[in-house]
Amino acid sequence: MTQDNHEAGLNRLNRLWEKGTAFLGSEYAILGGAMTWVSERNLVSAISNAGGFGIIACGGMTPELLSQEIAATRAMTDKPFGVNLITLHPDIDNLIAVCREHQVSHVVLAGGLPAVSSIKAIKDFGAKLMCFAPAVSLAKKLIRVGVDALVIEGMEAGGHIGPVSTSVLAQEVLPVVGDQIPVFVAGGIGRGEAIAGYLEMGAAGAQLGTRFVVANECIAHERFKRAFIRGNARDAIASVQIDPKFPVIPVRALRNEGTEQFMRTQQEVLTKYQNKEVSQDEAQMQIEHFWGGALRRAVIDGDVETGSIMAGQSVGMVKSEMPTSDIIDELVAQAADYLS
Ligand SMILES: Cc1cc2nc3c(=O)[nH]c(=O)nc-3n(C[C@H](O)[C@H](O)[C@H](O)COP(=O)(O)O)c2cc1C
Repeated sequence: MTQDNHEAGLNRLNRLWEKGTAFLGSEYAILGGAMTWVSERNLVSAISNAGGFGIIACGGMTPELLSQEIAATRAMTDKPFGVNLITLHPDIDNLIAVCREHQVSHVVLAGGLPAVSSIKAIKDFGAKLMCFAPAVSLAKKLIRVGVDALVIEGMEAGGHIGPVSTSVLAQEVLPVVGDQIPVFVAGGIGRGEAIAGYLEMGAAGAQLGTRFVVANECIAHERFKRAFIRGNARDAIASVQIDPKFPVIPVRALRNEGTEQFMRTQQEVLTKYQNKEVSQDEAQMQIEHFWGGALRRAVIDGDVETGSIMAGQSVGMVKSEMPTSDIIDELVAQAADYLS
């Protein structure tokens, strides 16, 4: 690769993701997808300082904790970053109020269709609002209610997933709404060539989670990071529901003793239900509670046997721990070389 070719590739990349960088206010349209317990001040500021766009994962935080996290992140970077809120959080209104107090520039609403009141409260204080669009019809609806940018996340991703792959969502959504508002593509992206490919299809940028878990700045436990370095694409499996009467929200995580135990627990609970030892509601609750606290146990305590090692299929492209800036530089170089 000659210097001229590389420059030409970089220029093309900058033109292709201009809509994304203008929207985010970052040098590169690479978002560090919010990961509960993982995306806190250290990783978020490192991603933004390296030219990407970091996003704080609020997860189950209280408004007070979120407020502290935003302030601490701001102390570590003067670059823009976002806050990801889960729509089902019982204190969602107060979390939005915290974002307002801190004049957060970008809010991401995840975990189900947002309430109109949440959308209004966020737009009222001038923040840019991003939401997940799991289908074209919902993308159009979200645009109609004033959402400023969309993320389409395929089932290759780590964490809670929908049923459709990234490549199919991209083909369905980008040609229809890609020229209306910025659309960022997520799920299964491990290399810059894939980012460039989606940009050529009309995406404004890409969101990655799995690859950032092993960043030096990421506070995840060493054992959690080592599981990512060892893991292959086929180890990152979606949780399986064994009976349609007891729905399980699919989560992609690395196979371990916890994922095996989850199958056994579902079977045991189902048997108890069939023997009329527990009601349907009680059985459903026992299944839902199985994973309670499991992500924290894996990320923070390093319990990679029974904790939940949420990871995407791109985990096979995670090779070693490295500085966040190296991960981003590598992605940008791969995208630019491909485009040259
Ligand atoms: C450990 C982990 C935790 C996650 N937590 C959240 C979350 O709290 N909110 C959210 O919107 N997405 C969450 N995600 C999804 C990421 O933000 C991102 O969209 C996804 O990781 C992209 O796919 P990839 O893992 O293939 O790069 C999580 C992903 C992982 C791996």
